[in-house]
Amino acid sequence: MDKKEIIDYLKSVPADSHERPRRVLRPANYAPDTPGYGVYQGTLPSGLAYAVIDLQGRVFMANNEDPFRAADRLLAQITAKIIVVDFHAEATSEKCAMGWYLDGRVTAVIGTHTHIPTADNRVLNAGTAYQTDVGMSGPYDSIIGVQKRAGPRALPHQHAVEIRSRKGDPRMAALLIEADPITGHALSTERLLLGE
Ligand SMILES: [Fe+2]
Repeated sequence: MDKKEIIDYLKSVPADSHERPRRVLRPANYAPDTPGYGVYQGTLPSGLAYAVIDLQGRVFMANNEDPFRAADRLLAQITAKIIVVDFHAEATSEKCAMGWYLDGRVTAVIGTHTHIPTADNRVLNAGTAYQTDVGMSGPYDSIIGVQKRAGPRALPHQHAVEIRSRKGDPRMAALLIEADPITGHALSTERLLLGE
């Protein structure tokens, strides 16, 4: 967690997710004493229960707890059928492995982190919607959200430069999933890039 400004917020969120929504999750497989929570369980106005799990990969990333075992542990405690997993990971292979590992056990495994949406959205064999990376919501006139100047100068010279958020050309990348509320299985997926 390198943006320490979020720690106070994460500490203020109650343990019982049904009482007050957790608007921001951190990876559930961080060290156990890290502030915040990696799971949100809620109920839609229709009464349908759902859960959102956030996990972080380990390939080319911090050495967190094994995200596969963490997913097993969390799923054993969740009763909702509609379960969405945000898998924040660098390597496409690790994200793909998580999709197949959880196939049929969750509604969706959606990759995040690379900021670039991948074209491989589909429903896996046992009913889990999958996309290696859903992409970024932010300014597209940029290098993955930061000022274009930072990228070309930083990458060839291999030294740190100040990175500033870019403004303009905002777009929102998303995956629209149709799912069966009884089984929790996905029926279809559609890639969205709003603001094009
Ligand atoms: Fe990231």
